[in-house]
Parts: sequence; C-alpha cells; structure tokens
Amino acid sequence: MTRVISKSKNVEIKRQKSGDFLVIDNKVWMIDDKHNHAEMKALSDQCYGRVLVAGYGLGMVQKHLTENKSVDSFLTIEISSDVIEVCKNTYGEIIGDVTILDFYDFETDETWDCIVGDIWFSKQDVELMKKFTEKAEGLIKTGGEILLWGDNNG
Ligand SMILES: C[S@@+](CC[C@H](N)C(=O)[O-])C[C@H]1O[C@@H](n2cnc3c(N)ncnc32)[C@H](O)[C@@H]1O
Repeated sequence: MTRVISKSKNVEIKRQKSGDFLVIDNKVWMIDDKHNHAEMKALSDQCYGRVLVAGYGLGMVQKHLTENKSVDSFLTIEISSDVIEVCKNTYGEIIGDVTILDFYDFETDETWDCIVGDIWFSKQDVELMKKFTEKAEGLIKTGGEILLWGDNNG
C-alpha cells in the first residue's frame, strides 16, 4: 500500500513497505531503502573535511555525512524548496545547512575538500555529468575529491 506522507506543489513523499519515495513531477527521484542507504553510506564514507553536496533528496547522504568523523562540516545546494518542505514535514528536521539554488548558479570564494554530486545522473547522461564535473572543478580544492552517484545507476 502507498500513502502520501507529505506534498508540496509538484513534490511528494510516498510511503511504501520498502521505504519512502521522493516523487518530483510524477517521477521517482530517490527511495529510502536498504540498497540506496548502502550506496549513500559508501559515498559519504569517502568524504572528508569541508563537503559540498549537490541535491538534498531524502537527506540520506547527509545523514551518513553526520556520522563520518572525517567530515568537519557540509553544505547542501538544493534546487527545490518544495523538496526541503516535504522532508521537513515528514522527518521533522533538515540535516545540515541547505541553500536553495540551482547548483550551476552557486558562486562562492570558498573551496571544498569534497563535492558530492547527486542531482540525478545515469550512464546515459554523459553531457550532464560533464557539465557537473566542470562546475565542480571550479569549486574544489587542489587534490580534492569530486564524487558522483549514479555512475553505476543507469
Ligand atoms: C536523487 S536526489 C538526491 C538524493 C540524496 N543524495 C539523498 O541522499 O537522499 C536529487 C536531488 O537533486 C535535486 N536537484 C536536481 N537538480 C538540481 C540542481 N541543478 N541543483 C541543485 N539540486 C538539484 C533534486 O531536487 C533532488 O532533491
């Protein structure tokens, strides 16, 4: 059985036995299930220092980042205020600092030890991945890590 837990404009969180589904424009963007938690943990375990995350989703990678002792702090850039609203309504909190902005419009003098890219990629999205990497390269410290989820996702 599927229940809508929270809804804001075009964004919904739906609950099923297998986990919570983040649905944007009627498309499933993230599922809070064991497999994705393991993937998000694996991604966050590679992070250290000051971390920039592109995409909040269900806040799963953020949860694991708070448990990674090598991470000093992190900031998430999320394009949709509705995603943040439904997560807050569902879970009662938002994990870490969030700026509502298109990642490609994010400008800062700060440089980052690690940048996590999870604004939805698949192997087919070569151009999108290239665009993301080029943007991230302008924000990363020398020797820092750009970590993309979705490389094994399409
Ligand atoms: C697959 S979900 C992220 C899942 C997340 N890693 C987690 O742990 O739950 C992708 C998120 O990226 C956001 N997003 C998509 N395009 C974006 C952009 N250009 N800038 C910032 N956020 C974006 C979506 O609204 C969505 O919340």
